[in-house]
Amino acid sequence: MQVTQGSNQSKIQKTLILIKPDAMERKLAGQIITRFEQKGLDIVAIKMLTMTKELAQKHYAQHLNKPFYKGLEEFMCSRPIIAMVVQGVEAIEVVRNLVGATNARKALPGTIRGDLANSLSSNVVHASDSAEAAEKEIKLFFKEEEIFDKHKPILQDLMYAKDEL
Ligand code: CMP
Repeated sequence: MQVTQGSNQSKIQKTLILIKPDAMERKLAGQIITRFEQKGLDIVAIKMLTMTKELAQKHYAQHLNKPFYKGLEEFMCSRPIIAMVVQGVEAIEVVRNLVGATNARKALPGTIRGDLANSLSSNVVHASDSAEAAEKEIKLFFKEEEIFDKHKPILQDLMYAKDEL
């Protein structure tokens, strides 16, 4: 699975987004998905699942020894979530900017967390923070055949200049 499409020069990337249990319970999933669509990103994979402890430990491996890990694991495994992969030009940074700061109290208005949450732990979404993380995280949640990235998006040439792709 390649996070960056085609040649190494391509700026089209994939990134993982999780819609967390708080957003699911608050019926915000539709609004959150809409924000990514409105930005022009393509949804290339999506599923609903309940995270297991094993999956949480792999996904949040860098946080395993942090004091907040136990609470994070309990929260993320408590209820179903939506996992999705979105694709677009420089999607990893674009999505991080759209999602806003981890602490939703500090996230700017206009960002998803800034508009929809007010908590550090219940911050409605997770997004991969680097190309390495995106590659690892996408593989944890999706099999190759669950990623629908074989078709060139019809609007791509309308939305981007050739030298942006
Ligand atoms: P997320 O982007 O999913 O990545 C790790 C998560 O840990 C983060 O969002 C927060 O929801 C959660 N978290 C809880 N406490 C902290 C903390 N003190 N620092 C960073 N992340 C925290």
